[in-house]
Amino acid sequence: MKPALSNLINVCQTRTENLFTRYLKELETPAPKLQEAMAYAVMNGGKRIRPLLVYATGMALGAEMEHLDSAASAVELMHSYSLIHDDLPSMDNADTRRGKPSCHKVYGEALAILAGDALQTLAFQIIIAQSDQISTSQRLALLEILSNASGIMGMAGGQALDISADDNTIEKVLTLYRLKTGALLSASVKLGMVSANLADKSIQAQLEKFAAALGLAFQLQDDLLDAESATGKPQGLDIANNKYTYATLAGADQTRKKIQELNSEAMEAITVLGSKAMILQELAEYLLVRKQ
Ligand code: IPE
Ligand code: IPE
Ligand code: MG
Ligand code: MG
Ligand code: MG
Repeated sequence: MKPALSNLINVCQTRTENLFTRYLKELETPAPKLQEAMAYAVMNGGKRIRPLLVYATGMALGAEMEHLDSAASAVELMHSYSLIHDDLPSMDNADTRRGKPSCHKVYGEALAILAGDALQTLAFQIIIAQSDQISTSQRLALLEILSNASGIMGMAGGQALDISADDNTIEKVLTLYRLKTGALLSASVKLGMVSANLADKSIQAQLEKFAAALGLAFQLQDDLLDAESATGKPQGLDIANNKYTYATLAGADQTRKKIQELNSEAMEAITVLGSKAMILQELAEYLLVRKQ
């Protein structure tokens, strides 16, 4: 990995962990067991790709890290909630996550569901509360992006298609991937743009293209990893659950080819940013070779 990227990853991960300690561990709450379940699901070694995308995008556009903190934390909390529910017996029935027992294995299904619910609302609360650095109209825009990407037009909609998919075609699978995974990854880039107050519409459009291609490639890579690697999640679960994935429908070689094409599309989309695109391009390259 290039030194600039590895440095940014370290800085963002430390920053994210510190923010989560503040939001989740130092919280005065009447429901300590729920708080414990939330912290367990969030502070357990995730890669923090979504916060990284918020910071990398925002900083490429000249924003200070302080101005990106709330959006970066909020999108990761939303993602963590989606993983808790994704692992439930009624969904993927996954016993491990990030190398540890899944949230419901430790706290039971009922508390795990509630931990997901409460993480989702905490994400919105964090954006609403960051009044000192971000204007009201910016905060509204952030809330709109995050709620769209998480709900029926985004992650939850995609998850619904994912669990009901019994006659899948490659086109249908790609659509559901854009929703279940692409939406929150694209939102991360959009949150970075809004936090940085980016006004240039053509740069916005190019960054959105970048994020859409990257988001789709990310889920394709996740499919390959499910089949081929030890990731801290149960290996081979997609096959065990009779899931139609791009990889099962098109084969591993075609999946790798598609990932490469999407990656080139992502790289190409942000050449307009010139040298400012470098860190995002390095990030996209790193996601290609990730093993987790
Ligand atoms: C896993 O996401 C779920 C998908 C949307 C593919 P990540 O691979 O980002 O998981 P963590 O957060 O690093 O554990
Ligand atoms: C993405 O799909 C999950 C979410 C949108 C939460 P997967 O079910 O493939 O994710 P993993 O492999 O369990 O992390
Ligand atoms: Mg799933
Ligand atoms: Mg899953
Ligand atoms: Mg998977």
